[in-house]
Amino acid sequence: MAAVRLAALREVKKAERRVALVPEVAARLIRNGFEVIVEAGAGTSAFFPDQAYADAGAHVRGRAEAIAQADILATVNPPDSELIAALRPGQVIVGLLGSRTDRATLEALAAAGVTGLDFAYLPRTLSRSQTMDVLSSQASVAGYRAAIVAAETFSRYMPMMITAAGTAKPAKLIVLGTGVAGLQAIGTAKRLGAVVTGYDVRPASRGEVESLGAAFLAPSGLEDGAGEGGYARELTPEEKAAQQAELAGHLVAHDIVITTAQVPGRKPPVLVTAETVARMKPGSVIVDLGTSALGGNVEGSVPGEQVVTKNGVTIVDGSNLAAEMPAGASAAYARNVQSLLGALVIDGALAVDFADEVLDAVTVTYDGAVRKGA
Ligand code: NAI
Repeated sequence: MAAVRLAALREVKKAERRVALVPEVAARLIRNGFEVIVEAGAGTSAFFPDQAYADAGAHVRGRAEAIAQADILATVNPPDSELIAALRPGQVIVGLLGSRTDRATLEALAAAGVTGLDFAYLPRTLSRSQTMDVLSSQASVAGYRAAIVAAETFSRYMPMMITAAGTAKPAKLIVLGTGVAGLQAIGTAKRLGAVVTGYDVRPASRGEVESLGAAFLAPSGLEDGAGEGGYARELTPEEKAAQQAELAGHLVAHDIVITTAQVPGRKPPVLVTAETVARMKPGSVIVDLGTSALGGNVEGSVPGEQVVTKNGVTIVDGSNLAAEMPAGASAAYARNVQSLLGALVIDGALAVDFADEVLDAVTVTYDGAVRKGA
């Protein structure tokens, strides 16, 4: 039986520096019987040169050849129309395909007869899917980076500093949304010495926040913001208004705000209004990580930019923070890909078996049809 051929392409999205496969994982897949093809230059911006893939036993090829030879393509970002046009029926594409919000890509993949596997639908609470959890691995990098970027942007010390030139107070930092990214931001900010508070609508996150040594703040008067599958639910318009008003009072008392709030498939909640930003102290920093194709948590944040408001508040768009730590993020991503391939290719045979609950959940297009998504 011929080996299953896996290809990783160079990501074409602007400012993307990650790659879906790193040499170490390529070597492991090859040991497990795969043939691995990597587009020339795919790992360069994450500091994985072509030679490292070749040394691992992978074939380094031009883009068209890599696409044509692949049974499975691993990507980080959704395929663009040019890539979809180059695919052929029966090929499998694995990655973050944007299926929760982007219907057009799903339909194009289905029309091309391509099987799409989107990590965004992974049943994350299953113990066997932990090692496949791209959302967690990338959120973890982004949360860590959010705290680092906040510290770098803030024009004072993060920790309390007692010096001959006086005592500097520690920065007061609040994290809104304490899921995977938020908890990582909290842990990192604590290590940098800030006084940290975590805020979430899911009461279950209190214990996790407190175990990191941070204070937990819950919205008052909100019944329970938990939804399905461990995620938050979308709040009602009345709840949203009450939340924004109550948060404003807390936020103006902080120096740094990191937002990470998301509700799968929905527009992220606006937690920091323009009015609140206008009331914050000059020198305050906001990092908006709660971004999706549909918007972010902070009014006035601009995709891909760092803006300083009239009253001296810096708002950093954090939508690309995982890509700003490309080697670490790609290494974790590639291990997640390898783990999912373990379910997709058994004894050297590629089979999308819907009796497997992971494959059933992540398969968004199959046999010419869209199975789930926006
Ligand atoms: P996410 O990226 O969907 O959202 C981030 C955070 O924002 C969540 O904690 C959510 O509760 C919060 N949020 C949403 N709307 C909000 C609002 N209006 N105000 C304040 N906060 C708001 O979530 P993420 O990080 O992907 O994971 C959320 C949860 O999923 C985890 O905490 C966990 O319970 C579960 N999970 C479980 C895993 C496992 O069992 N291994 C792995 C990963 C996640």
